[in-house]
Amino acid sequence: MTLPGTWRFVIIPRRGSQLHPWHVPSFPVKKLGARQFGAGRRRARLARLSAMQIQPFRIEQYFGKYEFTAKYLLSSSDAESRTVQELLDLEPGSHERLLKHWCGYTESPGAPALREVISGMYRGVRPEDVLVMAATEEGIFVLYHALLSPGDHVIVETPCYESALEVARSTGARVSEWPRSEENGWAHDLAALEKLIQPNTKIIYVNTPHNPTGLVMPASVFEQVRSLAASRGVIFFCDEVYRELEHDPADRLPAACEVYERAVSLGSMSKTYGLPGLRLGWLVSKDADILRRCLELKYYTTICTSAPSEFLSALALRHRQVLVERNREIVLRNLPLLDSFFERRSDLFEWVKPNASPIGFVRYKPQRDVLSFCEDVVGNAGVLLLPGTVYDQPRHIRFGYGRRNMPEALAQFSAYLSAHSGFGVTAP
Ligand SMILES: Cc1ncc(COP(=O)(O)O)c(C=O)c1O
Repeated sequence: MTLPGTWRFVIIPRRGSQLHPWHVPSFPVKKLGARQFGAGRRRARLARLSAMQIQPFRIEQYFGKYEFTAKYLLSSSDAESRTVQELLDLEPGSHERLLKHWCGYTESPGAPALREVISGMYRGVRPEDVLVMAATEEGIFVLYHALLSPGDHVIVETPCYESALEVARSTGARVSEWPRSEENGWAHDLAALEKLIQPNTKIIYVNTPHNPTGLVMPASVFEQVRSLAASRGVIFFCDEVYRELEHDPADRLPAACEVYERAVSLGSMSKTYGLPGLRLGWLVSKDADILRRCLELKYYTTICTSAPSEFLSALALRHRQVLVERNREIVLRNLPLLDSFFERRSDLFEWVKPNASPIGFVRYKPQRDVLSFCEDVVGNAGVLLLPGTVYDQPRHIRFGYGRRNMPEALAQFSAYLSAHSGFGVTAP
């Protein structure tokens, strides 16, 4: 893939990486060298300077390896999905309308009907404030690359969904982590955030509700992050893909784009609504210049989003209460089962119980490598867990509880533990 100028993708293997070559993503993996860019050394050096270096996406590599072969998924971050037929059943006449839907290009900022319905999900937002993306992932990529250059500085809350950190780094901007830790209940250290802000800080990225902890940022913290960003004129990039899946709707925060002119809210069909196969997401901001710059780059990535996907997304969002209620019901049914399981197995596990999303981050107490533990679990019990190593959190495991068959997956995992008491594991 070639981006404007001479940018190229180069995957840099992580030092000490346990990933094998066949886990490397599907776009070309190339070693930079003079031969590739012509004979001259100078050209090679220039090419090296302009290459976009990006780390392997460990979360997606791990899922890519097991997600479609493991029998039980006990770590997914998307809620239970639906068929196209089930979506069409939400609205009379939609089946016929889908069959007649034109499969030409659509408007680059997003089909008008879809921008209209998305804008209606936010307070004081107009359709022009919405830029539709071919999934949230494109939103992250495009926003960072449209707004950042070497010389800029970004702050990213960690642990986080990996692209939030690695795509920012790939722009050549300097990236500081704003770390959270389980030791203090994953609290946010606002004084530390304030210290990280520099004169050249352009973006602060946060994610609430949060992957991997499943926790909503406390309202007072959210307000202080907003106010810090506003006082320095920094863009507040808020990843809200799990919004509307707060376990208690009273915990819902305002969307960042509703409360600050230079904020960008990132939304998705994938998580709360359980429709990741539509590959559709959006950026919302009242800052027209931010959206214009993102649109300019979107012309180089996808031009526009898939027409059938825009049709189905608009339909689903018109009925999103139905989707949210069904998925919230599943989450609220499964969460107590998982929580009491961790209580029963407190010899092995401990967590800060999540209050949003279908995921939670659990500390695995034995002094054992979580990557080899999770690989053993998926290999022997067919249960997919996500090792915290993919978040640089080697003592944790991500669990998911947004799928209908979670009780069955949990029973399989429990049986595995009983049968493998050799790993410092005792039978329940
Ligand atoms: C916090 C967060 N942001 C973005 C994404 C990407 O989502 P999408 O499937 O919509 O591209 C994910 C997916 O796991 C996520 O957890």
